Amino acid sequence: MELDIRIKIIDRDGLEHEVVAPTDMAMNLMEVVKSYELAPEGTIGICGGMAMCASCQCYVLSDTELPPMSDDEEAMLSEAFNVKDNSRLGCQIQMTPGMEGLVVELAPES
Ligand code: FES
Repeated sequence: MELDIRIKIIDRDGLEHEVVAPTDMAMNLMEVVKSYELAPEGTIGICGGMAMCASCQCYVLSDTELPPMSDDEEAMLSEAFNVKDNSRLGCQIQMTPGMEGLVVELAPES
């Protein structure tokens, strides 16, 4: 079974990065962004992935099927800046094999 997926992350400068993300390490999208250093230290993942800071907000650009939002995620996004219809919190998206081809753009730092 293929455990790595290929996803595309557009950073806050508009640069596209095609990266390989493991699906067998319980990693979420925010952690993938951090591990590839696609956002400066201290500007993403501030709450540690608790859905309490929105620093990991991203816009989902592909039609990849993602897990539904939890109440916590929805509540946080309702208070965050720069929110769009396709906003999600990266820390709430666990990498799974079905996410091959996912394309996301990091929301601006707020
Ligand atoms: S890291 Fe804080 S909400 Fe995702």
